[in-house]
Amino acid sequence: MGGVLEGTVALVTGAGGGIGSATVKAMMDAGAEVIATDLQAPAGGTLSLAHDVTDQAQWQQVADTIRDRWGRLDVLVNNAGTVKIASIEQTTIEDWRRMMAVNAEAILLGHQAMLPLLREAGKNREGGASIVNISSVSGLVGNAFAAAYGASKAAVRLFSKAAALEFAALGYNIRVNSVHPGGVETDMSELICQTFVDMGMAPDMAAARADSARLQPIGRTGKPSEIANAVVFLSSTAASFITGSEMAVDGGWTAG
Ligand SMILES: NC(=O)c1ccc[n+]([C@@H]2O[C@H](COP(=O)([O-])OP(=O)(O)OC[C@H]3O[C@@H](n4cnc5c(N)ncnc54)[C@H](O)[C@@H]3O)[C@@H](O)[C@H]2O)c1
Repeated sequence: MGGVLEGTVALVTGAGGGIGSATVKAMMDAGAEVIATDLQAPAGGTLSLAHDVTDQAQWQQVADTIRDRWGRLDVLVNNAGTVKIASIEQTTIEDWRRMMAVNAEAILLGHQAMLPLLREAGKNREGGASIVNISSVSGLVGNAFAAAYGASKAAVRLFSKAAALEFAALGYNIRVNSVHPGGVETDMSELICQTFVDMGMAPDMAAARADSARLQPIGRTGKPSEIANAVVFLSSTAASFITGSEMAVDGGWTAG
């Protein structure tokens, strides 16, 4: 995909994690300048910043930094996320609030803080500025022991569609789409497998990973780069007619 993001300024949150770091790399390989943020400033990126996505003031600081250096933002990737696998009976209100804060509320904060910079980019960028919100298969279909996580990710899906329609109505030239990964080999999926072992749902990690692979009809989990490639596409001018869509990148998990 070399060069499709030449001249693009992009922000990726949660960029210290598996999918986030792969997205930063794929975007830079495609020619973008990337602001990479995470709770602690991550490795990689044209610029790396510490940024808690639940903190409105920190969003504004990141926006100010980008305005001072670039004056605009072409692409926003809301990727930071957190999960706690648990039965509904075992899910605490603190678990619920944490997932809602990181996975859902941060989407609102991110759109609000970056909108002036994205609008600026939309004035000149062919195909418009682009927001890619990372949801999950759990935002499309129900998954046992993921009720709170699924609720937070379903919020991302419809927020994205509403934002796409609203920005179109306002003439902002900003596209908004959601991406729905299936199981992807990252720290998060390892944590999920470990939780299933701890819950007695799988005898050991090898069995939990095999169960996870079987959820995809193609019989394997995904690699972070396979999600990153979809994000690069949606961010690029090649996706100029795509807004308000939900892209499953899930090995067929949600196709049936
Ligand atoms: N791995 C999967 O199987 C999978 C499947 C579907 C969706 N997703 C989603 O993909 C995204 C990336 O997940 P991943 O698999 O790379 O997991 P990961 O745990 O490797 O990365 C998540 C990153 O988000 C960061 N983060 C958490 N809370 C934050 C906060 N308050 N502020 C800023 N950063 C914060 C973490 O520090 C971490 O670096 C998440 O939104 C996740 O829900 C992952």
